[in-house]
Parts: sequence; structure tokens; C-alpha cells
Amino acid sequence: MADILQNVMDHAVAVARKAGEVVREALSDDRKVMTKSSAVDLVTQTDQKVEHLIIQSVKEKFPQHRFIGEESVAAGEPSILTDNPTWIIDPIDGTTNFVHAFPFIAISIGFTINKRVEVGVVYSCLEDKMFTARRGRGAFCNGEPLQVSDQTDVHRSIIATEFGSNRDPEVVDKIFSSLRNILSLPVHGVRGAGTAAVNLSLVASGCVEAYYEMGMHVWDIAAGSLLVLEAGGVVMDVDGGDADLMSRRILAANNRSVALQLVEHIAPYRPDRDDAPRIAPEGPVRDDLPPAASD
Ligand code: IPD
Repeated sequence: MADILQNVMDHAVAVARKAGEVVREALSDDRKVMTKSSAVDLVTQTDQKVEHLIIQSVKEKFPQHRFIGEESVAAGEPSILTDNPTWIIDPIDGTTNFVHAFPFIAISIGFTINKRVEVGVVYSCLEDKMFTARRGRGAFCNGEPLQVSDQTDVHRSIIATEFGSNRDPEVVDKIFSSLRNILSLPVHGVRGAGTAAVNLSLVASGCVEAYYEMGMHVWDIAAGSLLVLEAGGVVMDVDGGDADLMSRRILAANNRSVALQLVEHIAPYRPDRDDAPRIAPEGPVRDDLPPAASD
């Protein structure tokens, strides 16, 4: 098992680095924008190309492994987490940032066995920061160990969150209700990098004390949640219950005390689960997918 996980980690790092090069190069091209579940849920050909590159490369090396990839799911592939070894891939976490050249973009690769994340790689490709974690072996950024903040008082904390891509009035009301409650605690500040994976790496790095969101997907958080745990933090549901990767709800914090102080102030809502049955693919048809990039 140990060797398999090291091979997975090495491959995830190598392919994330290659994906990052593709993303950086694509930033200087015209970016053709398409939409998925809403007018502000964006996707580009680069997201599709990078996911294809990652999946092809992993399939060659680990032919038995399964995948849950953001753009494959958008094209109709199932999004069911099983006990089998599974790669959970977000080719560009922060697609809106990518479209606008807002400088936080990550490639996020999580690897699960028995539905538990064993390896997490988040490559913040414009900062050239490679975040890695293996269960029980710590979390690192470019090889340097990470440690969450030791702050225990939420009033002296920075909290990260996102607005997501659901603009239903009831959801927007909940988002603002949480934001109002948390700002008024008060806290030192509220931030959002525009990518869940980078927000989680910020918690793991001790730069922010917590990150919460409802509505993001398993591919946004699988890798980053292991970074937080391995840097000494906690990951749970926004109501303080157990974390559930497929629930589209997350609260990650430097410690349980800060997390529970936030739970009281978050206005929860329940998006459809990632593994809920779907009637039709939400996203664009993949007929414009470029040929497989060679390794
Ligand atoms: C999005 C980002 C964003 C979060 C959204 C995600 P994408 O992922 O992580 O920060 O607010 O919920 O969907 O679409 O850029 O991969």
C-alpha cells in the first residue's frame, strides 16, 4: 500500500506540474468561455484539455483506477465515490479566475481508497506552489512542512469563503446572512481566493484560520481537505457534524474551537449532493475536445 501511495503522489505531482504549464500558456491565448449549471458557472476548452491530459496520463500508469473529474461529470460521467482507488480531479480550480486572469488558479488532485482521501495535491500554478499531503505523513508546500495557525479566538481570525455560482435568491440570502453574522462577530477579515483548493491551502499554511462554503464540489475540496488535516487542522460539515466529501458542504479550520464558533453563525443550506441521481448532463457537450496530449 505504502509504495502505491508514493507512486500515486509522485505521478500526481508530475502531472499537476505539466497541467500547470498548459494553464499558464493558455493564459496568453483567447479564452473561449462556455457555461455549465448557471450563467456564472464557467468552463473553457483549457479545463477540458487539462482534465483529458491528467486522466490519460493516470490511465496509462494506473489502468485499474477510477476517476471523478469535474469536466467528465459535466459531460455526463457518473459522480459516485466507491471503495475503489479513485482520482478526484479539478483541472482548473478557479475557472472564473482563469477567465479573468485573476491570479489564483489551482490544479487539484485527490486520491481516495475506501472513500477516504489518502493523497492530496494542489498546485497553485501561477504562484508555483506545490502543496502535497499524504495521510499520516504531514502536509507540505514545495517540500516545506505546513502547520495551521494556533489562534483559538475567532475574533482574531481571518475567515475564507466564496460566493459560488448559484444566484438563486434564497441561496444568495443565506450566503449574505452568514457573511453578515461572521463579519459582525467581528472577525479580523473575510477573504476568498476564488478557488476552494487555494482557500484550503491557505488554512493549511496558517494564513487564514478557516474556510467554509456550501455549493462547491468534491473535486474542489478532496485534495485540499487532506492538506488541512495533515497540517493539524479539522474538517467538518458546516453544522459541526462529520465531514462528507460528496455533500457539497465544508468547514475547514485550524482547530475545533474556531470551527465551532463559526458553526453558530453560518446559515446552512443543502445543495444537491454530488452523488445525487442526475437526469441529464449539466454541462457542455465535449465535441470540441482536443486530441490527447502525449506524456
Ligand atoms: C469553483 C471554485 C470557487 C468555488 C466554487 C467552485 P471551479 O471551482 O472552487 O472558489 O466558490 O464553488 O465551483 O468551477 O473554478 O473549478
